[in-house]
Amino acid sequence: MQRTLIWDLPTRLFHWTLASSFALAWLTSDGDRWRSIHVFLGYLILGLVVFRLVWGFAGSHFSRFASFWFGPSEALAYLKQVAARKAPRHVGHNPTGSLAIYILLAMAVGVGLTGILTLGGDEQQGVAAGWFSFAQIKWLKELHEIGANLMLVVVFGHITGVVVESVMHKENLARSMVTGFKMAEAGTPRAKPRVWVAALMALAMLGFGGWWFAYAIDRQVDNQAWHINLEDGAGESPHVKFVGKSLPDNHTWRDECGSCHAVFYPALLPSRSWQRIMAEQGQHFGTDLGLDAATTAEVLKFMVDNAAEKHAVEAAYKIEQSIPATATPLRITETPYWMEKHREIAATDWANPLVMSKTNCAACHADADDGTFEDGAMHIPKAPAAAASAAATTP
Ligand code: HEC
Ligand code: HEC
Repeated sequence: MQRTLIWDLPTRLFHWTLASSFALAWLTSDGDRWRSIHVFLGYLILGLVVFRLVWGFAGSHFSRFASFWFGPSEALAYLKQVAARKAPRHVGHNPTGSLAIYILLAMAVGVGLTGILTLGGDEQQGVAAGWFSFAQIKWLKELHEIGANLMLVVVFGHITGVVVESVMHKENLARSMVTGFKMAEAGTPRAKPRVWVAALMALAMLGFGGWWFAYAIDRQVDNQAWHINLEDGAGESPHVKFVGKSLPDNHTWRDECGSCHAVFYPALLPSRSWQRIMAEQGQHFGTDLGLDAATTAEVLKFMVDNAAEKHAVEAAYKIEQSIPATATPLRITETPYWMEKHREIAATDWANPLVMSKTNCAACHADADDGTFEDGAMHIPKAPAAAASAAATTP
């Protein structure tokens, strides 16, 4: 037995980058705040899988698919041998481990692709932007999440296998995936280090990361008026830049509906509400809007074109679903979804001089003017001490 290089450097780099990307993708999967990192990791994982498919033919002996081309029956047979404590040692991947690898590679592709489609439908971003609407994307999003969960199960199975195998054959398999070396009989095919391939891989990944975080995101964030607000300290911290989508805009609407209060984006109410608001514009919450017919028509068209039932954003979809078909609310703040989402906000927060009114959406939502209402742009301003104690003592 002699110390032999089994795993070349590209295989090891692939393995640990994939493992850490998967873990980080899990940690960044909740909400909008970390989305730009999450999406980056998704593309990285897809790229890694493509590399691995190539390396399955071009890599060193034990990295090639030919060296671990086992079917499910062999995997099962090996599992039985393990249970009987009679499993032979494999210098390369054992049949059960091999199956886990193929399953993980296939699932990574599935989860990555459903992720791209979800991003396109849910956020109208990425290569699949606009392919699906929010309502259509729901099941794909679920598939993405179920896939990621199943992948986690397989990962744990894989880790269990590594631990069992390491104990059974008294060798540290995780360490050999770091160093590349294992004890093997003379004549076992040796891997070449392939340092240059690994260096190119590292360069490609760093280049992609640099482009993504320094250029691609910044360029898209620059198109968003509200990112300036976020950099002024709004937005929950720790805040990571993420790219919100851009919704259609209209100047007449902004001018006419933004003079007394900030504009309420059309996606926040169904078209029947906007029709009613315009029909009753003579008595708009105690004022008369007094718009002429042409202006009314233009504003109404913009609002109907982008109303809640178009499901342009998650909030639109959820607000629309929450309103009974028989109701035509005049207020966003009286829709069931809005009330549910803001139920737990403390009275002291509403009384904060920076907020004062429920309809002052922008006080807490940096992207209110854009109508997107992303989690990452949400931030309840801190009440100055005096105002907070005054509100607290008010019965
Ligand atoms: C002349 C002033 C004025 C103009 C112009 C105006 N509004 Fe209002 N609007 C009000 C007032 C006052 C309220 C009540 C605000 C409150 O309760 O905080 C209100 C409330 C609303 C609300 C309900 C907000 C909620 O969810 O509680 C909506 C929706 C609304 N306006 C839409 C519009 C639209 C659409 C336009 C443009 C066609 C418009 N407003 C133009 C004065 C105006
Ligand atoms: C006092 C701060 C505050 C104000 C003012 C406020 N919101 Fe919110 N809003 C919140 C908080 C906090 C949440 C998050 C609740 C949660 O996570 O369940 C939220 C959640 C939401 C959501 C759901 C976002 C999502 O995807 O989960 C929407 C939509 C929304 N607000 C719309 C509005 C609109 C429209 C207005 C103005 C009419 C408004 N909000 C005013 C604090 C505020």
